[in-house]
Amino acid sequence: MKIITVENYDEMSALAAQIIGDTVRDNPCATLGLATGSTSLGAYARLCQMYLQGRISFKKIKTVNLDEYVGLDSKHNQSYAYFMLQNFFSRTDVELSNTFLPNGMATSFEEECDRYNDLLDTLPRDIQLLGLGSDGHIAFNEPYSPFDCRTRVVRLEESTIKDNSRLFSRIEDVPQLAITMGIEDIMKAKKLLLLASGANKAQAVKVMVRGKVSESCPASILQRHSDATVILDKQAASLL
Ligand code: GLP
Repeated sequence: MKIITVENYDEMSALAAQIIGDTVRDNPCATLGLATGSTSLGAYARLCQMYLQGRISFKKIKTVNLDEYVGLDSKHNQSYAYFMLQNFFSRTDVELSNTFLPNGMATSFEEECDRYNDLLDTLPRDIQLLGLGSDGHIAFNEPYSPFDCRTRVVRLEESTIKDNSRLFSRIEDVPQLAITMGIEDIMKAKKLLLLASGANKAQAVKVMVRGKVSESCPASILQRHSDATVILDKQAASLL
């Protein structure tokens, strides 16, 4: 695991955008595994800026997202489909037909999980962007998710619901269920890029980096990936 500590959120975002941008410049048809969350916003803003300045094109890339809330449709302003459209897809030349997310409004989640797993089998990720939950989750794989799990519906931990409630009007509005890519598929990406910013991630960062590889901290599995880069701002790295 390569750990890079930078001064602040802006530097973290700039470096992440540079790494993702390099992946696309090396292979204009790359498949990007994408993440949502406040941590990734700055990196998306910079990728959009690179596009506007004519320094990159996303025309031929494919994107596969990690997760989605169950019960929120793509028009809901807290759905991850909406996040991706607002913060990246609609602001660049990404072809919407090449973008894939789990469907939080599926009529059969069994079928939706099968569909997503089949899709993951056909679209190997050149790079997978990841955020980090304050409880050590990656995507919505909460503590004690088996390392060999695939796409499935999960119940969110109380701490995750609380963390994410800042984006909803009331905590009762945060969905309790989500559909998430599993850890097995996250680990199959050629390269992993995890970002963490702020003091509330410091404990999870410490366990991820210094702790034993254990299902109690899903992110600790990154220690076993052959090409995992972690970019931390000073506060997130403060307990290392
Ligand atoms: C959320 C998402 C993750 C995200 C993480 C951190 O619950 N499911 O994919 O990476 O938690 O979110 P944030 O960047 O907003 O702190």
